[in-house]
Amino acid sequence: MKMETSKHLGVLTGGGDCPGLNAVIRAVVKTAINRFGWKVIGIEDGFSGLLKPGKTRTLGLKDVKGILPRGGTILGTTNRSNPFEYKTWVNGKLRVEDISHIAHDRIEKLGIDALIVIGGDGSLKIAQRFFELGVSVVGIPKTIDNDLEATDMTFGFQTAVLTATEAIDKLHTTAESHHRVMIVELMGRYVGWIALESGLAGGADVILIPEIPYHMEKVVTKIKDRDKRGRKFSIMVVAEGAKPVEGKATLLSPADKEAGAERLGGIGDKLAQEITRLTGMETRVTVLGHVQRGGSPCPFDRILASRYGRAAVELVAEGKFGHMVCLHTPNIESVPIKEAVSSFLAVPPDGDLVRTAEMLGVEFGR
Ligand code: F6P
Repeated sequence: MKMETSKHLGVLTGGGDCPGLNAVIRAVVKTAINRFGWKVIGIEDGFSGLLKPGKTRTLGLKDVKGILPRGGTILGTTNRSNPFEYKTWVNGKLRVEDISHIAHDRIEKLGIDALIVIGGDGSLKIAQRFFELGVSVVGIPKTIDNDLEATDMTFGFQTAVLTATEAIDKLHTTAESHHRVMIVELMGRYVGWIALESGLAGGADVILIPEIPYHMEKVVTKIKDRDKRGRKFSIMVVAEGAKPVEGKATLLSPADKEAGAERLGGIGDKLAQEITRLTGMETRVTVLGHVQRGGSPCPFDRILASRYGRAAVELVAEGKFGHMVCLHTPNIESVPIKEAVSSFLAVPPDGDLVRTAEMLGVEFGR
């Protein structure tokens, strides 16, 4: 096999974790070493690993042994270390400064010829800024939310759907025994992909997603109709970003300078109170939370992650920097990172999945 000029490849995982990150790291390391004879440098804890010394390590074949089925990331990650807007407290005051030059210098000092950034829109936006500063960057999209327009699917999403579906299956049996309304609140930020797919797969009666603001009376009618027909329980799958027609999404905390983005959550409890008040039925809420981000990746995610990792190294070999690998079924292709982070992928309210669910009797509250 032909050996290319020897290169040093940096790799980091940024933003929230998701199942399949280790499968990507493994594929990057194996392809870089076995196919090209390159050296791989793992950068710890996202971009923060480039801001301090001692946070990088060489990744050899031995280091990626056995990590294919492992959740999390062996490199660690953070969604709070944007070098372009680095936050520190100085004398009780929050200071935000651009220290990207430190990361840039470290990339040069480490002799990194190309940097592979495995991240969601936040990390990919940072990657794009480094690319504009002259760093040879390649991106790999990850997020359980599946909210990136430029790819048919991000890895991690299918595992989250599987976890959520298993939870819905379990809630079904206890809902039926106790004649209760069971609400399961799922992640997804501003899109409803996890709620829609797991709700459909788990046979939910009501699915509420941000893309289809709901009318409370429609939801209540559905639950009461089921009750009249002898179906004394209901399963409601609610995306954390779901909102009523005249209202906003429910927040755990608003966006602020230190924490950054707002945190969604609490819609399940809010709905439960209203449903009990309006139907008289006993209602319980399960917030699945970070369980959706953990655990072993499902086979689909292991395969997609492996394909992305391999393709990213090949992009480096081709010199196609500033690009992100993506799935355009059935092929792995690439798109400029700039394009990929400029828009996000919402559930089409009249798309095939929603139509199918509605035909099968699922209430979206519209
Ligand atoms: O983007 C992935 C995600 O899990 C969202 O679904 C969720 O809103 C958010 O991250 C939670 O972030 P954190 O881990 O900071 O609580």
